[in-house]
Amino acid sequence: MARGNAGPTTAYGYIARMTTAVEPTFASRTHTILESLKQSGQLKHLQTIEGPMDATVKLQGYGEVACFCSNNYLGLANHPEVVQAGIEGLKKYGAGTASVRFICGTFDCHHSLEATIAKFYGVEAAYTFTSCWNANEAIFPTLCEPGDIIVSDELNHASIIDGIRLAVSMKKGLLRTVYRNGDMAALEAKLAEARANPAVTGTIWVVTDGVFSMEGSLGNLPKIREICDRFGALLVMDDSHGTGVMGKTGRGTHEHWNMPATKIDYFTGTLGKALGGGAGGYIAGSREAMDLLVQRGRPTLFSNALPCTIACSAQKAIEILMREPQRVEKLRRNVAAARAGIGEAGFEVLKSPTAICPIIVHDTAKAIAMSKRLLELGVFVIGFGYPVVPEGHARLRVQISAAHEDAHIRKLIDGLKTLKREF
Ligand SMILES: Cc1ncc(COP(=O)(O)O)c(C=O)c1O
Repeated sequence: MARGNAGPTTAYGYIARMTTAVEPTFASRTHTILESLKQSGQLKHLQTIEGPMDATVKLQGYGEVACFCSNNYLGLANHPEVVQAGIEGLKKYGAGTASVRFICGTFDCHHSLEATIAKFYGVEAAYTFTSCWNANEAIFPTLCEPGDIIVSDELNHASIIDGIRLAVSMKKGLLRTVYRNGDMAALEAKLAEARANPAVTGTIWVVTDGVFSMEGSLGNLPKIREICDRFGALLVMDDSHGTGVMGKTGRGTHEHWNMPATKIDYFTGTLGKALGGGAGGYIAGSREAMDLLVQRGRPTLFSNALPCTIACSAQKAIEILMREPQRVEKLRRNVAAARAGIGEAGFEVLKSPTAICPIIVHDTAKAIAMSKRLLELGVFVIGFGYPVVPEGHARLRVQISAAHEDAHIRKLIDGLKTLKREF
């Protein structure tokens, strides 16, 4: 066979030619991006933990440090009963589900976890996913249709933003619009606009975080609900950082606002934060919406079920939360002490009752340098910069847990005082 300059004519040869033509561009582009992050002090380093997640963790290269950056809000990630429930689940069901839910990946522990989540909220039903990211990628493409419009707070979590983008790209005629964070007049104007839009023939969906994950601020649920009712809109709340944290019994941000769960049409949430911290997410609300998700939700039709060991641990974590609301009270006391101490150390933190306390330092390199210095002082707080938050809004995000004791909080405050002197 004549070869000449055209090179080999097999499929393999064609792929090899394409690879050598494309690869150097990709490799040099990737290298340039990483180099520029390094040069500007913005490169993230993965810190490695060598033991369980708790109030303190054993951090590679630093030893025992007080952990103020985990989502272990109730201290259940290493609770003996939660760990034991996971071990028993592992023994009973084995390591893997080896299937998506609708084939042969539904185990009785999924049903009992979903019933427990529904009971926890006091709603008809719940359905689980391997993450809340997946739940947010399932809810909008599945429940929304052409002629609907989704109205979203600009600071909603990335998984909500991507879930909406996916829905809009899949369903021509499904609309979306974004309102300024927490701006209720802007939300009202968007709903009035939507009602006047002849292309909106279906449902108006309003979606908000309960607790905004980078600001630690709260969604104004009573006002949002009132506006939704006036314009006949459904309300979806992602309460990943509010569940187990907000409200007297930790039911979430609606409880903080003294609203019954029925005032929220659909909840999305994670099992990977206050509720044991393993992994997994869920949607909770009406029975028929859950049934539709079982039929049509792509992340559940085409991706494995939540591992049973995690389902068992999460179930136990929710039971503990329902049994011991005093954990939420301890978290609230710790939050108040830490917020007061951050102020005493000379830093400003946005006023809010949530367990997320961001200290805005603007510059990403500075946030990373401050975080490194805190680690040397035995305090683990991560600096967040672009693309996690917008350019110029870099911050240290301090997160409080019910696992913290007074000594841990004092260590945080002393570390921050040192930072104030040095930076
Ligand atoms: C508000 C919010 N929604 C969703 C998620 C994603 O949760 P998961 O880790 O279960 O995918 C997060 C995680 O950071 C979050 O903060």
